[in-house]
Amino acid sequence: MRVIRSVKTMQRLVSQARRQGKRVGFVPTMGALHEGHLSLMRRCRRENDLTVVSIFVNPAQFGPTEDFKAYPRPVKADQRLAGKAGVDILFYPSDKEMYPDPYRTYIEVEKMTENLCGKFRPGHFKGVATVVGKLLNIVQPDVLYLGQKDAQQAVVLKQMVRDLNFPVTVKVCPIVRGPDGAALSSRNVYLTPQERRQAAVLFRSLQEAKEKIQSGERSLAAVVQGIRRRILKETSGKIDYVACVNAQTLEPLSCVDGKILIALAVRFGSTRLIDNILVQVR
Ligand code: PAJ
Repeated sequence: MRVIRSVKTMQRLVSQARRQGKRVGFVPTMGALHEGHLSLMRRCRRENDLTVVSIFVNPAQFGPTEDFKAYPRPVKADQRLAGKAGVDILFYPSDKEMYPDPYRTYIEVEKMTENLCGKFRPGHFKGVATVVGKLLNIVQPDVLYLGQKDAQQAVVLKQMVRDLNFPVTVKVCPIVRGPDGAALSSRNVYLTPQERRQAAVLFRSLQEAKEKIQSGERSLAAVVQGIRRRILKETSGKIDYVACVNAQTLEPLSCVDGKILIALAVRFGSTRLIDNILVQVR
């Protein structure tokens, strides 16, 4: 596995590979790699000739009171894991390399960035869209792999790719969970053992909601209430939101029909966890 720190070198290597007719797959990450990230890398490797992974803790997507400084950066372990997952190129730029001074250009996806996490993390998706737009220009992949774990991010980035005509196919991969059902997250390391146990309640409450809809519940307010009640009863978490939205557009639902995304964000101390589940009705 080659580790590349310069944008120019990265662009040169991928251009070479593409000239040789190689299909390039790309998995952007912020590191602190876990099985969720690795599942994307392994799928990327199966489906492409060259697998590129980026590790970049993107300052532009963190709010002023968020955990940019504290975000875990286990560089050595990440390199070992990426190597084992069969990654060909690890792109690992510095902040300066990605945002040379002065930096003036940002990408904003409208509307679908305003609700759910967007409401609680102003500017977050602008930072995400900007860095992923830049990474797509640097890595020039044929396929971009994203996780369903960050459901809103995946919808927003698909919209960006479509609106700005990035020549890339987006593939969204299933959420990888721990044995207790809790979604794997780089932020789980911040949790106390007790909070880590409670984190599993988020998924259980989503599963219960899905089962309710599948057995005929047609009031979304009741579904949301059920989730809220269970989280408040069984955890010490503070709920940012619980919402049922159209899975493709993230718009509010007028009735229970089609592909529904039930999404939530809950804070344990200063650690914010997100999770979601998809329900297909009819
Ligand atoms: P990060 O949180 O490191 O996640 C990188 C990718 O891994 C994302 O596409 C995310 O959805 C996916 N992922 C994380 N946990 C997962 C899990 N348990 N199961 C499946 N996939 C999972 O998301 C980001 O970084 C950043 O916003 C980024 C896109 C890299 C832009 O900075």
